[in-house]
This record gives sequence, structure tokens and C-alpha cells, in this order.
Amino acid sequence: MKLFSLFFIFLVIVLATNYINAFTRNDFQEDFLFGAAISAYQWEGAFDEDGKTPSVWDTTSHCYNGSNGDIACDGYHKYKEDVKLMAEMGLEAFRFSISWSRLIPNGRGSINPKGLLFYKNLIKELRIHEIEPHVTLYHYDLPQCLEDEYGGWINRKIIEDFTAFADVCFREFGEDVKLWTTINEATMFAIGTYGEGVKFGHCNVTKSINCSTKNSCVETYLAGHNMLLAHASASNMYKLKYKSKQRGSIGLSIFAFGLSPYTNSKDDEIATQRAKAFLYGWMLKPLVFGDYPDEMKSTLGLRLPVFSEEESEQVKGSSDFVGIIHYQTFYVTITYQPGPSFLSTINKGFYKDMGVNLISNEITSSVEDPNPWGLEHDLEYLKQSYNNTPIYILENGFPSQHDSMLQDTPRVEYIKAYIGVVLNAIKNGSDTRGYFVWSMIDLYELLDGYMYSYGLYYVNFSDPGRKRSPKLSASWYSGFLNGTIDIASRDITQFQSNFSGSSSSRFVVTFWWAEKD
Ligand SMILES: *[C@@H]1O[C@H](CO)[C@@H](O)[C@H](O)[C@H]1NC(C)=O
Ligand SMILES: *[C@@H]1O[C@H](CO)[C@@H](O)[C@H](O)[C@H]1NC(C)=O
Ligand SMILES: *[C@@H]1O[C@H](CO)[C@@H](O)[C@H](O)[C@H]1NC(C)=O
Ligand SMILES: *[C@@H]1O[C@H](CO)[C@@H](O)[C@H](O)[C@H]1NC(C)=O
Ligand SMILES: *[C@@H]1O[C@H](CO)[C@@H](O)[C@H](O)[C@H]1NC(C)=O
Ligand SMILES: *[C@@H]1O[C@H](CO)[C@@H](O)[C@H](O)[C@H]1NC(C)=O
Ligand SMILES: *[C@@H]1O[C@H](CO)[C@@H](O)[C@H](O)[C@H]1NC(C)=O
Repeated sequence: MKLFSLFFIFLVIVLATNYINAFTRNDFQEDFLFGAAISAYQWEGAFDEDGKTPSVWDTTSHCYNGSNGDIACDGYHKYKEDVKLMAEMGLEAFRFSISWSRLIPNGRGSINPKGLLFYKNLIKELRIHEIEPHVTLYHYDLPQCLEDEYGGWINRKIIEDFTAFADVCFREFGEDVKLWTTINEATMFAIGTYGEGVKFGHCNVTKSINCSTKNSCVETYLAGHNMLLAHASASNMYKLKYKSKQRGSIGLSIFAFGLSPYTNSKDDEIATQRAKAFLYGWMLKPLVFGDYPDEMKSTLGLRLPVFSEEESEQVKGSSDFVGIIHYQTFYVTITYQPGPSFLSTINKGFYKDMGVNLISNEITSSVEDPNPWGLEHDLEYLKQSYNNTPIYILENGFPSQHDSMLQDTPRVEYIKAYIGVVLNAIKNGSDTRGYFVWSMIDLYELLDGYMYSYGLYYVNFSDPGRKRSPKLSASWYSGFLNGTIDIASRDITQFQSNFSGSSSSRFVVTFWWAEKD
């Protein structure tokens, strides 16, 4: 009896301590990487300088007559200054992407010496400051010439061209780069570009949101298939030619919503499983187990490409890690339809095939709902369902109106809370190895241009010098990384309750798939 109460007291203390204890950077393993991210088109500018040819992103942003990334942050000229800012912030890693048409202007064949030099210099600068580079090979910016020649990712020719491009990158940069992501958020890239046809190489203002061809419901899956094969081809080539010397690792990244059943009904539980099969399983099942999920096969029939036995072998095990792009959580339901749910606004293509409703907490279609527990559940799910594949969280961040403020307290609260749940997941066995804030600096955003920004550093885009200024979040991150700032679990709980009530601190972003104009 006495023993039992002692145990009980012990348990209470353990639980209470767990709750109250603050944590710091040092609660993560030393080789866990805390970083921040950008991508080439959104940061570099210099869109037609030094031999770079247009990518489909250049074409699209010019075609839509809005803002564009012609200059962006002018990172191409200001990279040294930015690496210095990263070093001052104590950043451990920097994720950036390589502009294919800057490095290889014709898409294949000869290398542009000035493009090569730029990336070599950038990587060297990072190394001098002991910042680990994490390189994404493909971040939405296909050379326009390849789009014109054969339609980009819907054509199998992309596999050979992408592999050759990757080969150049491994050969030229691989001595200093140990972490490679082949394709950025492959799932959302396929859905957005080839399903909804809004952007990237399917630029035609008169078609607006209409599918680029009559076959978009086929093309989404075809593009996804070719992405998997191109990823596998590049990854296997790395293993054959470079890995023993360079000792790096390669992964694919996917867009990962948190997905939670809307009610505890059996139906919503099944709906959530189905959403996970479509949104995660589509790419992860082939990468880990060699084939598409049964839910997709039976729904899509002939619209879903089939892996030959050889392809299945190539794809399976080709990702050393999975990159996760995570911003928010949705609730999944079959029956709930009182308002403009996420799915019913776009009742076609991929989401129609998926056949379940995804709704935000607020039951409006365009409110991003920060719910850090969603990421924790995601990581737990990936641990349990995908053999505890190593994970890097390659993007997570909070948008605010660009000119709002340097005192970006909500961003600090958001990042704190998400880092907290990553630690929870790791404590429960998740093999998560890194966390990257999107974004290191204000960028030309994919959907919102210069209206909304995610940066730790503010950029004055009206200033020809593109002056940078640290936001509160930059100094907070810096303090967290050097161990002088800790995070109390109580903050996180409060953040959670503040955000799940009807608070005014919500923010609105235009979604990728949401109808523009
Ligand atoms: C493009 O932008 C210019 C300058 O703002 C404007 O005058 C023109 O009407 C726009 N064209 C279209 C098609 O929106
Ligand atoms: C855009 O789409 C319309 C309608 O399908 C077509 O008539 C027009 O030729 C297209 N424009 C371009 C530049 O492809
Ligand atoms: C999409 O295409 C259909 C059929 O061609 C047309 O009726 C509709 O107006 C188009 N929608 C937009 C937003 O362009
Ligand atoms: C922790 O991991 C165990 C074993 O995988 C699992 O059963 C449990 O649900 C996890 N706990 C949480 C809070 O995710
Ligand atoms: C941005 O730069 C412009 C031009 O140099 C300047 O007039 C403006 O005050 C700056 N804005 C901020 C917020 O610093
Ligand atoms: C840690 O970072 C904070 C915020 O940048 C800074 O004020 C502090 O001096 C740093 N402390 C150490 C020990 O480096
Ligand atoms: C939550 O809201 C309360 C009351 O508005 C506020 O005092 C507190 O600072 C907020 N906490 C966080 C973590 O945002």
C-alpha cells in the first residue's frame, strides 16, 4: 500500500514536471538541425542575369501581370550579407534551392559558369560560417524550354533530364552538401500545377483556374508518378556514383496537413484514414513500400499509373528521409457541410477523388488554423505507419501582412509552439532530425506575392537596396538557438487554447488551390 502511494506521488511529480518544465535547444540532440529556408525564385532575383534563362515561374508571374520575382530579395547579389545575418542569428542550417535554368540554361547540356560560381560561392560562404546547407533541387522552377519542348512533368522525358541536372549538382556541390531534397512538396506541386492548372507552365490568363488540358484528372497522377520516378532515378544514381565518397542523404518532400477527424464518429475516422491515404500515402507508400495505396487504386482505376516491378523496386527505399512541409491542420469529415468547406469550394480533380471534406476550425475556406498538435499527430502517424522514416520539417511558419510590424509576437508564439510539439514527438520515438522556419527572410511568396510575408528578417521591397531588418522573431530564434531562451510548456498550452477559441489573431492566406480573382 505504502509502495503504491509512493509510486503514485512519483507519477504525479513526473507528470507535473513534464508539464511545467521549460525546455531549451539543448533538449534536442546536438546533431538535430535548426534552420530556416528560402527558395531560388523567391529570393535570388537577377532573373535574366549572367546567362540565366526563364523558368516556368518567371513566365507565369509575368503572364499574370502582378508582382514577380525579377528582383525579389536580390539574394543573387546580397548572399554574403544574408549569410552574415544567418550567422548572427546562430542558424545551424540553411535550406535553399538551385535554379535549374541558372545552372543549365538549356535545361540539359552545357553548364553556365556564372551560375555554377554563384552556388559554389553561396555554399562556401555557408561553410565558412558553419551553416549546414540543405539543398532542394527542384522548387517549382522548371526551365521554360523543357516545358515548351515536352510539357514538363507529365512527360517521362523529365526523368532523364532531371537526373542529369541532379548529377551536375552532386558532382559540383556534393563535397560540401550532405542533405538533398529532390522535389519540393511534390504532392501539392502535382495537384496545384497539373490538377488545378493555376500556375507554372500552364500559364494562360484566359483559362484562369481551368485545367490546362481536358485531362487534368489524369495529369495530376501522371505528374506525381514521374516525380516519384525522377526522384528515385536521381537518388539511385547518387547511391551508385557519389554516396560512398560524399556520404550525404536524399529525400523527397511532401506537403503535410495535420489531419484530424472532425467528430469521433466512425465515419469521420474512416474519412481521415482516406484523406491520409491520398495526401500522404500517394507518395509515401511507393517510397516506403513500393506501391500506391489501395484506396487510390480502387478509386482512380486506370487514371493512376502502374509501377512495373522494376520501377517499384527503384522507388522503394529511395528516400533516406521524408521532408515535411507543414503549416496547418484540417478536420476531416464525410457528412459535415454547413458552410464553404475546403473541399466543396473546389469539388473537382484530386479533392473530388479523395471524396471527403477538409475543413478548418472556423468553417471558412481560407482561414489557416494553427494547431500545433496537428503536427505532433502527423509525426506520430508517420512513425507508426511508415516505419519511422527519418523526417526533416522543411517548412513551418506564420504569415503576416508584409508591412505590419517588426514586433512579430504571433510568429514567435507560433514557432515556439511548433518546436514544442516536435520535441514531444521526438520524446515519443519519432526520428525527426531537423526543423526549418519558413522563411529566413521576407520573400516573393508563392501565392501572396509581396502582400504577406513569413520572414524572420524584414525586407523593404520598395528600397532599391532591399534593406533587411531583424524582426522580433529573429532575435527570439537566436536566443533559443544559443540556449539563453527557454520555452515553457505552459506557453504552448496557452497558445493552443488562445487559438482554438474565437480569437482575433487568426490570419488569412489565399490557398494554392483556392480560386483566385
Ligand atoms: C497589367 O498591368 C498594367 C500596369 O499596372 C495595366 O495597365 C494593365 O491593364 C494590366 N493588364 C492586364 C491584362 O491586367
Ligand atoms: C489560352 O487559352 C485560350 C482558350 O483555350 C486559347 O484560345 C489561347 O490560344 C491560349 N493562349 C495561349 C497563349 O496559349
Ligand atoms: C472554365 O471552363 C469552362 C468551360 O470551358 C467555362 O465555362 C468556365 O467559364 C471557365 N472558368 C473560368 C474561371 O475560366
Ligand atoms: C507514443 O508511442 C506509442 C508507441 O508507438 C504509441 O502507442 C502512443 O500512442 C504514442 N503516444 C502519443 C501521445 O502519440
Ligand atoms: C522603404 O524604403 C523606402 C525607399 O528607400 C523608404 O522611403 C521607406 O521609408 C522604407 N520603409 C521602411 C518601412 O523602412
Ligand atoms: C544569445 O542570443 C541573444 C539574442 O540574439 C543575445 O542577446 C545574447 O547575447 C546571446 N547570448 C550568448 C551567450 O551568445
Ligand atoms: C493568450 O491570451 C491571453 C489573454 O488574452 C494573453 O494574456 C496571453 O498572453 C496569450 N498567450 C499567448 C501564448 O499568446
